Amino acid sequence: MLAGVVGGTEETTTGVIRLRALEAQGGLGFPVLSVNDADTKHLFDNRYGTGQSTVDGLLRATNMLIAGKRVVVAGFGWCGRGIASRVRGMGASVIVLEVDPLRALEAVMDGFLVMPAAEAAAVGDVFITATGDLDVIRPEHVARMKDGAVLANAGHFDVEVDLPGLAGLAVEVREVRPSVREFEMADGRRIHLLAEGRVLNLASAEGHPASVMDMSFANQALGAEFIAREGPGLEKRVYAVPRHIDEEIAAVKLATLGVEIDALTPDQARYLASWDRGT
Ligand code: NAI
Repeated sequence: MLAGVVGGTEETTTGVIRLRALEAQGGLGFPVLSVNDADTKHLFDNRYGTGQSTVDGLLRATNMLIAGKRVVVAGFGWCGRGIASRVRGMGASVIVLEVDPLRALEAVMDGFLVMPAAEAAAVGDVFITATGDLDVIRPEHVARMKDGAVLANAGHFDVEVDLPGLAGLAVEVREVRPSVREFEMADGRRIHLLAEGRVLNLASAEGHPASVMDMSFANQALGAEFIAREGPGLEKRVYAVPRHIDEEIAAVKLATLGVEIDALTPDQARYLASWDRGT
């Protein structure tokens, strides 16, 4: 089918990672726009959308009180920081797990506790993965967890928690509520897995509200128009969404929210583009 394909657009972080890997191996068959990398996508959908809808999934599955809990968020990317900020706002103490020093430093300076997974495992009440990676929560972590600990994933698919590893530790497994599977350990501790380790906000809630997906889908629509027009002249690579599309979407979104902003005066625009004044 490749011969007839002019180009594509890709919505999510993991999809873009896969397409870039394919491009690096010379295997990408057509140009692709990375919708995920548009600011009007990941700064909003991933952060505020995943942040809110993951909390929604957690509440619908467990009806737990978040205030006072120790919530461990694995990954301080756009999804992870959204989740971390939302559960902190509801009164949780939040611990962040990272492997990237820059992201970890941001988390520290945003006021979150940052520590290795093995340390967090012993103190966390709820663990939420949002890394795009596999085996982030492993048996050696589960072995240190408290009775009643809750595990959930809001990132990639059901590989972020090592499910075979978790099952291997259990002497008994039962469904205690819809979307809540209890794994009883040999020492009597019970570990609760939400939504079979699948993406919690989609499996146990309704995904993101339309009022944040509008920007993602506007990127998809305008990106599809762009790639249909420009695709034949592009190389078989992953391209950023053109900045003017991002800015147009942000401006329209602001207008729908009834928010007006200032514009640069001609002199301000000249000043910001100059090097010889005020130097
Ligand atoms: P991101 O790349 O901004 O952040 C991922 C973070 O996880 C990075 O900072 C990385 O250093 C960290 N990380 C990777 N391996 C780790 C490990 N073993 N332990 C701790 N941290 C680790 O990605 P983003 O945009 O936050 O997306 C994360 C995942 O969520 C992706 O798989 C993406 O496709 C998915 N996603 C899910 C959504 C949903 O509705 N549930 C919505 C948007 C994205």
